[in-house]
Amino acid sequence: MAKPLKLAVLLSGNGTNFQAILDAIDAKQLNAKVELVLSNKKEVHGLTRAKNYGIKHHWINRKNFENTDQYFDAYIQLLQETEVDLVVLAGFLLVLPPRFIKAFSYKIINIHPSLIPSFCGKGFYGEKVHQAVYNSGVKLTGATVHFVDEGTDTGPIIRQEATAISTEDTVVSIAQKVLKVEHKLLVESLKLIADGKTKLIKQGEQYKVAILT
Ligand code: GAR
Repeated sequence: MAKPLKLAVLLSGNGTNFQAILDAIDAKQLNAKVELVLSNKKEVHGLTRAKNYGIKHHWINRKNFENTDQYFDAYIQLLQETEVDLVVLAGFLLVLPPRFIKAFSYKIINIHPSLIPSFCGKGFYGEKVHQAVYNSGVKLTGATVHFVDEGTDTGPIIRQEATAISTEDTVVSIAQKVLKVEHKLLVESLKLIADGKTKLIKQGEQYKVAILT
């Protein structure tokens, strides 16, 4: 068996996506190990989950740094020290600066709670996405896992899946449906990466993810 994929998880909240990763590893569905969890928010449940599993975890307090560059350098340093193979943005609600993305080129993935390129980009995160979906009256939403590039939610897509919306749905029920899809997609995407089944290919100006069989 190949060496487990060394993961770092960045989060800002409850961490149910992080939990889905831990469950898949425990169930031996995913050949990976979470080495480090970093949060921009204090005392969030995602950090408690890391603590309960004995995983190294830190809250990185923006107030301790003079500027944004220095703040994100603290993340970069911890990630490089830990020598992770892949950084997983699992509900991390800050936009990463170019220096961060360059330091881990195509080694960062993000889960987004909509079908990109709908309901994504600047200002679309967390519940705001589901509120916009609800307001629009679309009949389908879903989730997307993608590699992170320098745009916001623009990187090469690994997996997407849709879920239907009915007139009985509320913002809360849409969020719940999507979260269920997210947990499945995130594990599937990580499995593809851990098994060496993703390959970046360039078509025109666009990088795309080919899935190897
Ligand atoms: C998830 O819905 C995730 O897709 C979203 O935050 C939530 C975190 O939930 N991320 C974004 O909106 C990023 N643009 P969790 O903490 O329970 O995993």
